[in-house]
Amino acid sequence: MKKINTIFLSILLVMATSLSFGSTPGDDPAAAKYPNGAKIYAAKCIACHQVTGMGIPNAFPPLKGSDYLMADKKRAVKQVLNGSQEEMLVNGATYVLPMPFQVDTHKDAVDVINYVLNAWGNDGGTVKLEDVKDINIVR
Ligand code: HEC
Repeated sequence: MKKINTIFLSILLVMATSLSFGSTPGDDPAAAKYPNGAKIYAAKCIACHQVTGMGIPNAFPPLKGSDYLMADKKRAVKQVLNGSQEEMLVNGATYVLPMPFQVDTHKDAVDVINYVLNAWGNDGGTVKLEDVKDINIVR
């Protein structure tokens, strides 16, 4: 009986370890707080900004620890609603590639921005839907 218990506990331990040290966005504590945002990030943003939120040097800017993101949350909501085609200075590096629009509703935009503001150890606070309602969707 004792042996069976030990085996059972070992299996549980292996399961718990793989859950906490995996590398999917769902493992980030921010995913539990902003599940819809985490889902959108995994479906849309990951290709460019990566699982790590570090982006790709000289192509896609980082979201983890991004001074540009932290400076203006409303601008970030606009970024995912409308995309952008301008030169951007993020953490001292210049990015010039355009970013296509990513989401169709203000709610999805707020959800994914609240996720990235708090994922990867970011401590960026939150943005409220009522504060961004006046952003026009331009396509
Ligand atoms: C096709 C690649 C691509 C995808 C997909 C993409 N981005 Fe971007 N993102 C970029 C590029 C390129 C820039 C810089 C745009 C510019 O210079 O105009 C950028 C800039 C940003 C910025 C502002 C700069 C910074 O790093 O703080 C934010 C915030 C952002 N993206 C969030 C997102 C979110 C959230 C998603 C998913 C909903 C997303 N992006 C999807 C390529 C992408």
